[in-house]
Amino acid sequence: MTARIFLKLIAVVVFLGGIALVTADVLASGVAERYLLAHLTSALEGKGRVIVQEHLTAPLEQEEIRQLAQAAEARLTVAASDGRVLAESEIDPAGMENHLSRPEFQAAFQGRVGSDTRSSRTIGIDFLYVAVPMEPGPRPRLALRLAMPRKAVNDDIHTIRTRILQSVALAFLPAVMIAAFLARRIAGRLSSVIAYAGELANGNFQARLPAITGGDLGVLSQKLNETGVKLERTVQQLQTEHAELDRLERVRRDFVINVSHELRTPLASIQGYAETLIDGALYDEKNNLRFLNIIRHNAERLTGLTADLLTLSRLELRTKEFRFASFHTAELLGGVVDTFRPIADRKHVTILQDLGEDGSEVFCDSEAFYQVVSNLLDNAVKYTPENSTITVGFRPVTKPDGASTIEFYVRDSGMGIPAEDQSRLFERFYRVDKARSRDLGGTGLGLAIVKHLVRAHGGDVRVESEIGQGATFFFTLPVDDVGIPEQAPASAAIL
Ligand SMILES: Nc1ncnc2c1ncn2[C@@H]1O[C@H](COP(=O)(O)OP(=O)(O)OP(=O)(O)O)[C@@H](O)[C@H]1O
Ligand SMILES: [Mg+2]
Repeated sequence: MTARIFLKLIAVVVFLGGIALVTADVLASGVAERYLLAHLTSALEGKGRVIVQEHLTAPLEQEEIRQLAQAAEARLTVAASDGRVLAESEIDPAGMENHLSRPEFQAAFQGRVGSDTRSSRTIGIDFLYVAVPMEPGPRPRLALRLAMPRKAVNDDIHTIRTRILQSVALAFLPAVMIAAFLARRIAGRLSSVIAYAGELANGNFQARLPAITGGDLGVLSQKLNETGVKLERTVQQLQTEHAELDRLERVRRDFVINVSHELRTPLASIQGYAETLIDGALYDEKNNLRFLNIIRHNAERLTGLTADLLTLSRLELRTKEFRFASFHTAELLGGVVDTFRPIADRKHVTILQDLGEDGSEVFCDSEAFYQVVSNLLDNAVKYTPENSTITVGFRPVTKPDGASTIEFYVRDSGMGIPAEDQSRLFERFYRVDKARSRDLGGTGLGLAIVKHLVRAHGGDVRVESEIGQGATFFFTLPVDDVGIPEQAPASAAIL
């Protein structure tokens, strides 16, 4: 690629150089020819005037004119104004034709210096002719013509042309070398730009073009790099969105499967025991009440499940209505603990209250607060052995953005939660030990509801736990209504 671009650029430079050479040759040889002819013409004119002044006052002998011609290094011809050749240095004038028609003589017989270049009809080679009048005034009767073969001029022109061409070629050589250097550089840069465009076309958006400084190519490479960065970002964004859509689709599928599964078990149980009763067990006094109790228990389970699903769905669709108000924190928490104490007592579990700084207030919906704390207490009791202790408490916490919140906690001394499960604990239907949780009557919706309710208040939930060391669930609520967002972020509503 680089070689092809390089050769093309060099070919252009050489072609332009050739044109420059031809132009220089044509212009220089024309100028040189005109200059040499003008110079020779004036030299011949000078010699002619000297000869006329010093020697040609009378008709000349043949021998005399030959000697003068030798001295002047030119052929000499004397003609009368009627065109007759009177004397000639090279051939016998008697045999020469009338010269009145020759342009140089015509000018000379009008009292001017005449000149012409043409092929001699007498000798047959190219000559430069210069004729000067031999008498003063406008109508001289005699004129002297000096002639010199043009070959000398042509030879000089040839020499000058050769020199000029050699000089131009010599001057052109470094130019070609510089052009070759630049062409190599440009070809290298161009091919890297082309290669980079190819990478982009093949979808490799991570590739970057090495920085090219200055010039249009620099701007082009910068723009291409920017395009690459934008494409990479767009592709990454699309991939992330795609992955997110995949995840949501998985969540939705899992949700449908989970709901059907959770509904099926109690429904099957209700159906089974109802059929048994219809088939005669109704009159079996030993079992009929037990069967009816099982049916009632499963119906309650279904009611609880549908109520939880309804709550979650309202939270997700943001149709759940809250009645926010300020409450005395210790009183609000104490109220929930009191209603829960009989359940804990059944398992001989003690609930301690760590009410911290009293007098603080919390801004929330009291029903939602009740549901959050009772879900956490329900878990704490459920996943804690008998005769253990649960502690609930709160403390004021200022968020990084300066908002005042109350952080509540529910700590138990139960089995704890494995680290790998902690991040998924707040997902719907997520249970660490499915069978165990179901045996305890759980469906895995309690913590999802806690998370959504707390987030609807602008707060957050987290868990700290180590296996065998119990678990502590924290959640925050605002002290006043500033901390409650108008609408929870969309992502919060998904899981
Ligand atoms: N205090 C805790 N100690 C140990 N594990 C817990 C505790 N709280 C929750 N978990 C685990 O987290 C899972 C999810 O809890 P979550 O409250 O969402 O569902 P659940 O209690 O199983 O059912 P539900 O609350 O809907 O009746 C539980 O199944 C349990 O495995
Ligand atoms: Mg629960």
